[in-house]
Amino acid sequence: MTEEQVDPASGSVLRHAHLYSPGTAASLHLRDAAVVMSAGRIDWCGADDRLPQRYQQLPQYDCGGRLLTPGLIDCHTHIVAAGTRADEFAQLLHGVEYSDIAANGGGIMSTVHATRAATEDELLQLALQRVDDMLACGVTTLEIKSGYGLTLEHELKQLRVIARIRAARPLRIKATLLALHKLAPEFAGRADDYVDYSCDELIPAVAQAGLAEAVDAYCEHIAFSPAQVERLFAAATAHGLDIKLHAEQLSNQHGAALAARHGALSVDHLEYLDNAGIAALAASNTVAVMLPAAFYTLRETRLPPVTQLLQAGVPVAVATDSNPGTAPLTSILLAMNMACTLFRMTPEQALAGTTLNAARALGLGTETGSIEVGKWADLALWNLDHPEELSYLVGVNRLHRRYHAGQYEPAIPSNDRTAPR
Ligand code: NIG
Ligand code: FE
Repeated sequence: MTEEQVDPASGSVLRHAHLYSPGTAASLHLRDAAVVMSAGRIDWCGADDRLPQRYQQLPQYDCGGRLLTPGLIDCHTHIVAAGTRADEFAQLLHGVEYSDIAANGGGIMSTVHATRAATEDELLQLALQRVDDMLACGVTTLEIKSGYGLTLEHELKQLRVIARIRAARPLRIKATLLALHKLAPEFAGRADDYVDYSCDELIPAVAQAGLAEAVDAYCEHIAFSPAQVERLFAAATAHGLDIKLHAEQLSNQHGAALAARHGALSVDHLEYLDNAGIAALAASNTVAVMLPAAFYTLRETRLPPVTQLLQAGVPVAVATDSNPGTAPLTSILLAMNMACTLFRMTPEQALAGTTLNAARALGLGTETGSIEVGKWADLALWNLDHPEELSYLVGVNRLHRRYHAGQYEPAIPSNDRTAPR
């Protein structure tokens, strides 16, 4: 019987893998390893020649010395979106600032118009193309944000699409209500009223519907103030939702410290984070998420203080930030490469950033992100020899197999060429 025909409840074994799994204190690195997967979880892992007798009868797959890592985790994306921003790319190349594009009605608002105009089915097809790219890169867990609707109707539409992706594809998904992304045009000149609307209508409705696990905001001089974000956090927490924050991307609003004080799962971007912000994160459990593709697209020059964050013991994650404007990519592998080349992270740190620390940024640190007994058997097997190669290769994907809850998923659905563009 081949392994992929096996009922996951009965289990299977991966043999002769070059296992590399980032850890908190030390990484697990075994040249010739076996991993036993049972009922969707990792039941045993260790040196192949120590595989206990009781597992010898299970169906086996010989990895042939290929690199085996935890499945990759993209902990920050905005993939439920319509429209293109290729025209803005041309403007950016000519030196127009992102904030000026936004001030002229483009930027996030451009995607809001296109997303509002799209049907739920169209948004699903567009998102599935991106999800399939991600699955093909070894992603097993994905966070997806709303934030291009800005009314209850359209935010719920985006969040329902996320729920449908969850049902349509074999991966774990965390949905985030990005409530304060951009001031809705209906509230022009009344930002505080929009914050009230988010706290009093959006959050309760979304929590009631069970359509999101976390609430996010964009704390920036061109977006929302720390005081407004703080009100949102209070409402989110009152409804039992986790919190996250886009902070210190274009300026220092001290958003990261605010978020850490409120127990945020993560703060993301952080180019303008100062020493006080680093200290606040170090004193919390909040993860710092690096988004090098947005830095790259906007051709930013101010680097986030990655080295200082790592020295202070802050867990650092890496994500694509996949969105039509500032990060039109789907490859988490490319984001890892950029984290190294642009932000000077080591390949080991980049891989920890898309596995263990990304899991923590989603509140899943005890469930996934490393190859450990008891965790979900979400794994990626690569046609590579060394873990460093995942970050070293530029725009190259050497995924051999992806396992979701212990199951090999060979049929990554191909992009539907009839899908809306
Ligand atoms: O994470 N910073 C704000 N939000 C997104 C950009 C969204 C957009 O430009 O459409 C980000 O970079
Ligand atoms: Fe973002």
